[in-house]
Amino acid sequence: MFPMLKVVQYYTPQKVVFGVNAVDNIGQYIKEMGISGKAIIVTDPGVAQAGIAARVVQALKKDGFEAAVFDQGKPEPDNVVCDQAADFARKEAGSFVIGLGGGSAIDIAKVVAQLLVLPGKTEDYLVNTTFPKKGAPIIAVPTTSGTGTECTMYSVVTFAKDGIKGFFATPTILPDMALVDPTLTVSMPPKVTASTGADALSHAIETMMARQENPLTDAIALKAVEFIAEALPVAVYEGDNLEARVKMAYASMMAGMAFNDPGIVEGHALAHTLGSVYHVPHGVGCAVALPYAMEYNMGHCMEKLARIAVALGQNTAGMSVRQAAQVAVQAVKQLLEDVGLPTTWAPFGKKEDIPMLAKMMVESPWITAFYGWSKRPMTREAAVELLTRSYEGRLGDKLY
Ligand SMILES: [Fe+2]
Repeated sequence: MFPMLKVVQYYTPQKVVFGVNAVDNIGQYIKEMGISGKAIIVTDPGVAQAGIAARVVQALKKDGFEAAVFDQGKPEPDNVVCDQAADFARKEAGSFVIGLGGGSAIDIAKVVAQLLVLPGKTEDYLVNTTFPKKGAPIIAVPTTSGTGTECTMYSVVTFAKDGIKGFFATPTILPDMALVDPTLTVSMPPKVTASTGADALSHAIETMMARQENPLTDAIALKAVEFIAEALPVAVYEGDNLEARVKMAYASMMAGMAFNDPGIVEGHALAHTLGSVYHVPHGVGCAVALPYAMEYNMGHCMEKLARIAVALGQNTAGMSVRQAAQVAVQAVKQLLEDVGLPTTWAPFGKKEDIPMLAKMMVESPWITAFYGWSKRPMTREAAVELLTRSYEGRLGDKLY
């Protein structure tokens, strides 16, 4: 339905810098924002070993910035690693924080920027998903093309005590500046390129199915879908193809801008459920969820899925809207399989877990939060059906 009766609001970083080798002038861009003092760079061992952290330190020095590097970030970060990074930042008396890496490093950096000015530990705030005020300035520099976290007000942090994925959702952690330099993604291995690309695709498509979908975010999301369909297989199979990397970097950033306000829906609810239980990379969870989440939502957004089919490069001329929508679902599944991703969770999960997973999908507040963004209410029966179809790889049945 055209959202003429809704109030929508948009948040996006105050400044976005996008371009090849833009990272070499990061100091200049930060200065222009009136930010001064010592930088804390939050990154992970892989990015540090690849020399990317040193490249950023060098670029900062050129403009007179001092920097200290925390390089112990890790994938799917928990509150413990966030606290370690925050302790480092406090000891180093940082003034602002640069998240440099995949979504994980940037998500840690977002928390560190708050804990630089607030007392206590990550878990004190994670239980409420928010911080009481904005912390130190955040600069986000992604080295993968997937999460779009450089442009969002979310940070996904796992509770170390039980492995449950929690998250912060608050404008206080929206980066002040996103600096996206596609050259930083060129060394990403094919598997990471594929799974992070699936994450970006999920953000773009899921936000178009969300309750607060609107013309502005739809336009950005559709362009992201188009870029991903064109560029993801090339980026996976020919990693040093810079044009493909540029398109994927745009797609990831644009999908982040698109979903920041309408949010994401059942695909991520399912991905977070599977991620919390089986600890698969987030993008893999997205890949096994997305086609089924599209079908689950088809009843209320057939026309929109038909437009997604066109953005995916499908020829829908002469088709009914329903046929075109079904083509979109199949094309997404095909694209994910083309880049070597699983499109069922059978390879890493057990079918007998479905009742337990369905319970989690309708009872865990960390999962039900996603339905606040969706149009359809989730029921236990629907959760069982969604889990069953995504386990069996079954598409094309009647709507449920
Ligand atoms: Fe995601």
